Amino acid sequence: MCGIIGYLGNKKALPLLIDGLERLEYRGYDSAGIAVYCRGKIVSIKSVGRVNLLKEKIAARRGVDGVIGIAHTRWATHGKPSEKNAHPHCDCKKDIWVCHNGIIENYKELKDWLIKRGHKFRSETDTEVLPHLMEEFYDGNLENALVEALKRIRGAYAVVAISKNEPEKIVAAKNSSPLIIGVGEKEYIIASDVSAILSRTKKVIYLNDGEAVVMGAGGIKFLDLSKKKVSTNLSGRTQVLDWDLTSAQKSGYPHFMLKEIFEQPESIANSLRGRLITDDGLVKLGGLEAVKDQLSGIKRILISACGTAFYASLAGEYMIEEKAGIPVEVDLASEFRYRRPIIDKNTAFIVVSQSGETADSLAALREAKEKGALTLGIVNTVGSTIARETDAGVYNHAGPEIGVASTKAFTSQLSIFALIVLFLARQRQMSLAEGKNLALELEKIPEKIKQILKTAPQIKKIAAKYKNFKNFFFLGRKYNYPVALEGALKLKEISYVHAEGYGAGELKHGPIALIDKNFPSVFIATENSVYEKTISNIEEIKARGGPIIAITNIGNKKIARLVDDIIYVPKTIEMLEPILNVIPLQLLAYYIGTMKGHDVDKPRNLAKSVTVE
Ligand code: AGP
Ligand code: GLU
Repeated sequence: MCGIIGYLGNKKALPLLIDGLERLEYRGYDSAGIAVYCRGKIVSIKSVGRVNLLKEKIAARRGVDGVIGIAHTRWATHGKPSEKNAHPHCDCKKDIWVCHNGIIENYKELKDWLIKRGHKFRSETDTEVLPHLMEEFYDGNLENALVEALKRIRGAYAVVAISKNEPEKIVAAKNSSPLIIGVGEKEYIIASDVSAILSRTKKVIYLNDGEAVVMGAGGIKFLDLSKKKVSTNLSGRTQVLDWDLTSAQKSGYPHFMLKEIFEQPESIANSLRGRLITDDGLVKLGGLEAVKDQLSGIKRILISACGTAFYASLAGEYMIEEKAGIPVEVDLASEFRYRRPIIDKNTAFIVVSQSGETADSLAALREAKEKGALTLGIVNTVGSTIARETDAGVYNHAGPEIGVASTKAFTSQLSIFALIVLFLARQRQMSLAEGKNLALELEKIPEKIKQILKTAPQIKKIAAKYKNFKNFFFLGRKYNYPVALEGALKLKEISYVHAEGYGAGELKHGPIALIDKNFPSVFIATENSVYEKTISNIEEIKARGGPIIAITNIGNKKIARLVDDIIYVPKTIEMLEPILNVIPLQLLAYYIGTMKGHDVDKPRNLAKSVTVE
């Protein structure tokens, strides 16, 4: 999720930690902090907001000149952005200090247990259970305390820790959140990505999942969390990077957009993490607990959003109506305020926003609140204005999305809608068996996305073939209609080519007049309840000589006689198809945009968050 850095060497740690935090700023964050060992104690300084504010607070302090320290830029998941919730977090005695990236799924039960054992907590975060667990198991050896603590947590983590009692070492461990060690001249730097290391050294060691490491005067020691196997053998693990800083921030990808497209197996896993109770066909959504009873009585749902989030909302409408049996209306947020929506106490209003700061969406939310609706948010940025103004909500946990063209946020929004649908439907008619099946299908999505990403080279070839066309239709039915709209938006946004999304059945009502050999159509034609009808629409286009690209399921050979190019995707249940079917369209738009030489991360005329109406 966000940024970690630790330094141990023969230079003053503080300036190097701050430099590292500044190199991690691109990842997006809401607060930051440092902890440095100085003359027998650990000094910690934290600040909400930009690293510059932290620097000002540090400048006001004298004597923070130790040679070992850790630092963190937080991207809040549990507990609002605040100085209190910023990392590093410490134990009761302020001996052990920890920075953490990721989510501790079982933090609530651990926190309750620790409080019963007398521990006093200072923050609202999930992270803070770590230093208190380490305090609980500390027997004079910091790495043993870390291993014992990690045995008891569930979730994704990258953790670094220091202790006043053992000031000559940094201990760390990872499970699905990245951690890299820079091996310098008589110094070690450990960080969540190489951009914080490159200025000191290009010699790096990547920590593996389930591994802990101790860095100290005696060198580096690796521990295996399960078997405590110890290894000090660095040969074969050390790599020398030839990245420059910019490519490092993109983890070697040429653009943030491509990195975020390829991050989707992980971002979906993070969106689902700790929320599926698969055996019972249920979900655990902490952000809805307080309004659970109200939701069981809701008779109507209004949804409002902009752009990509609006298209996710259209898919959400199909899901909720089909699975939970609740009537839904979706509005463009910029239009919602000008209609006279009928809202009563049995109406819920859902606002969807990656940034949580979109002015149109915020205005729609305030209008709905004004009229008495129960308001829920599906928001990616914790502590954002929309997140704070809704009555309840579900955070995406998709991590910062840097590319202006939304990709992983869209698939995360679809996943959150699926979770909310499961929540609402199991309060109503959905059986345990159906709920369990939906949960099982959701759990398979990250692996299925990986399968699609492997076809990127073929999609790139198709992009090269179509990159000079001036107009496109994107066409789909039912759940794939919003996918068609999103695919068209992606192509427009970053290739500046005209593309229109339509319900496939709508072409014959006029737009088909545009079809000729210079007007390709991209059909999302996966084998579902409307597949045959979609095939008829493909025939209509083919009969008029329009080039056709089809997204369809692996194994569908018959469609080849009708279309010019095919991109295959794995099957899933119909309501989850949008999550998979959009991936090829994201890649198609990315490759065409880059082949045209555009800055796909910062397309012309666009902003990442539109805070004007
Ligand atoms: C999507 O690629 C665009 N960047 C844009 O349509 C975006 O989805 C829209 O502005 C809504 O942003 P939000 O999700 O942050 O509210
Ligand atoms: N879940 C932790 C928190 O909310 C860490 C978030 C992060 O990765 O920055 O503080």
